[in-house]
Amino acid sequence: MRISCKAPAKVIISGEHSVVYGYPALVAAVDVYSRVIVETIDEFGPHEICSEKYGIGKVIGGALSGPSALKPLAKIINVFNESESFRGKLKVRVSSDIPPASGMGSSASISVALAYALLKIVYDDPPEEKVFKLAMEGERVAHANPSGVDVIAAIKGGLILFVKDKGFEKLEAGSGIFLLADSGMERNTREMVLKVASLKEKEPDLFNITMRSISDITVKISRVLQSDMIEAGKLMTLNHLLLSLLGVSNSRLDSIVWTSISSGAYGAKLTGAGGGGCVLILVDEKSLSQVEEALKSINVKSRVLKTVETGVRLEELD
Ligand code: PMV
Repeated sequence: MRISCKAPAKVIISGEHSVVYGYPALVAAVDVYSRVIVETIDEFGPHEICSEKYGIGKVIGGALSGPSALKPLAKIINVFNESESFRGKLKVRVSSDIPPASGMGSSASISVALAYALLKIVYDDPPEEKVFKLAMEGERVAHANPSGVDVIAAIKGGLILFVKDKGFEKLEAGSGIFLLADSGMERNTREMVLKVASLKEKEPDLFNITMRSISDITVKISRVLQSDMIEAGKLMTLNHLLLSLLGVSNSRLDSIVWTSISSGAYGAKLTGAGGGGCVLILVDEKSLSQVEEALKSINVKSRVLKTVETGVRLEELD
């Protein structure tokens, strides 16, 4: 049996970091994808993982031999093997158009595509809760204490208001244009999440006020995104300032935010864990090219994002 799946990337419009502590996050699935092909082979032996980016690994008796970047995938394969009634060998091929370490949820997208493909071996229609649970096994290896926001976006698609351990609501997309600007700086989600956790220890009052404010902003943006771009943009910029207070911005990200706003964007903020990665910019048709030009002048590449309504799905094999 051969199964091919693809799952989308995501951008967080508001609520990164605070979502880890039980506050809401607003996230959109976007039109960049990871792909996983799973082949079942009717014999015993190590499972094989072949990743376009990281190379080849073998999973033998629960342990991975190969590049450590493949550990999250090995974990998913092991948990699947132990919990479902599959006996045999798996060959897994992984490729992704999502830049790694950019804040677009590349690891979650791969984990979701793999979890879905594996569960498809034993279920005609893999239950979403099972896909979520299995993909989170990989995410827990990749990051410290993941909220699940990236995973839910890759599974469901569309625009989602998500609260960890509680659930999510699907919302209608707005009419504004989202531009994604790449700082060119790789970052590490685990490091950033731990940095925020240490602020919680050292300065609990500042931490709590900031978290509550980000939460209010997230809910407010989810209500105005469809109707009031000016307000949504200002709230995004305010969110960026609060993320800076948490210590996850830097001068490169700040300069992308201010360049965008001064050239006509409604608002802008870092997206994802911060410390590098991307800036999400809200613009309209009129100011789009001006903002793109201004970003080029500071050597920043940007691309217009398209929200996609469908999450993980099967793909035809050639
Ligand atoms: O690093 P990213 O883009 O996958 O975003 C992580 C979002 C955080 O809120 C920082 C962590 C999480 O698990 O929600």
